[in-house]
Amino acid sequence: MNDNYSDVIIIGAGAAGLFCAAQLGKYGKRVLILDNGKKIGRKILMSGGGFCNFTNMNVTSGCYLSENRHFVKSALAQFTQWDFIGLVADYGIAWHEKEDGQLFCDNGAQDIVDMLAAECAKYGVKIQLRQPIEQVEQVENDAKVRFKIHAFSQQWSCRSLVIASGGLSMPALGATPFGYQLAEQFSINVVPPRAALVPFTFRETEKFLTALSGVSLPVTVTSHHQSFTHQMLFTHRGLSGPAILQISNYWEPGESVEIDLLPYHSVCQIVEECRQSSPKQQLKTVLSRHLPKKLVELWFAQSLLKDQTVANLSKAELLAVDNFIHRWQFYPNGTEGYRTAEVTMGGVDTREISSKTMESNKIEGLYFIGEVLDVTGRLGGYNFQWAWSSAYACAVGIAGKSERL
Ligand code: FDA
Repeated sequence: MNDNYSDVIIIGAGAAGLFCAAQLGKYGKRVLILDNGKKIGRKILMSGGGFCNFTNMNVTSGCYLSENRHFVKSALAQFTQWDFIGLVADYGIAWHEKEDGQLFCDNGAQDIVDMLAAECAKYGVKIQLRQPIEQVEQVENDAKVRFKIHAFSQQWSCRSLVIASGGLSMPALGATPFGYQLAEQFSINVVPPRAALVPFTFRETEKFLTALSGVSLPVTVTSHHQSFTHQMLFTHRGLSGPAILQISNYWEPGESVEIDLLPYHSVCQIVEECRQSSPKQQLKTVLSRHLPKKLVELWFAQSLLKDQTVANLSKAELLAVDNFIHRWQFYPNGTEGYRTAEVTMGGVDTREISSKTMESNKIEGLYFIGEVLDVTGRLGGYNFQWAWSSAYACAVGIAGKSERL
């Protein structure tokens, strides 16, 4: 047997690739992972502010977007968040739950990378780093080898090939369009990719809002009948924070998003109450008690609101203020793009992939897992859970073929 032969080659040593390799190793498969980077699990290390939001207590298929919306169900059922939490517990990794069921490591994301590395080592998985894969060749009429993989002067061969090369977000962390190009090479459709879980930028007319950089407040943001109530952050380029990242998955270029800047109160009610108790109070003073002072001051400085006593405010003026604060129509200029996006929407068309095993319907032995697929989770640990679940389904699918040669 050629030294460079493996039962399975996985391209990408990220969350999905590492986890899939370890599962396959458990089934006795000879597995090799190839990655273009200097170290494994680079995005895991960066994730969750360095503490890796590795899953979520409330994973459902509704937390994912894909043109084939039922696609995620089988894999999520085969390997659930509880299965991953069990593995984390086996390794004694301490974690804590934050709001909305998000689970983070207590000590740091390195714990998850170390766990995946230990699982790979335990089952004899080989990893070769600094190998930017350039070309994949399909081998016909060979009983053992289905694919040859080329990088620089090196060549490897395998029976099953798993593409776990991720999306386009964060090119500085090794992201490449390799997975999409490979799909196209095999005439597998790719849903056009775009940056997601990503901050919005200001149009020229809203650049004055950069003065608010660093200000954050809870908001409800709505687009396409989806609403998220969370923190929003003004930055020196636009709007960010969890509420904005979540809605960016639903926003379409050219559209507005509606932002309620005071989701837990009613402006009308606050002003009406003040009219009874202290009618001489200025509107600006009243609003500053409920909203960041800097934001309120900017509105008045820019003459977006007119200051006067609450007693003087007419019914129509009050309704206009209420509308201004509860229904801000914000038109993003665009997004910050792949440079800061947490994930990529779109990708390898899931209508061309088996939801049970992640194998291509067209090309036997070719599998796609993780973010390279047209599956995008919400913010909150859902994207890692997709990496674990799709990797597991793929490993079971390959093992189920009993093809060791
Ligand atoms: P991933 O991108 O992790 O791995 C792909 C690997 O393939 C990389 O190592 C890459 O270098 C390699 N590769 C690419 N092209 C190649 C080629 N041609 N040859 C060889 N190798 C190649 N999600 C979540 O659930 N909770 C969180 O807390 C966060 N936080 C977070 C923070 C930040 C800053 C980012 C950018 C992203 C997140 N995410 C997240 C999203 C999460 O990181 C992402 O969904 C998963 O890492 C996807 O895992 P994959 O294994 O599919 O791809």
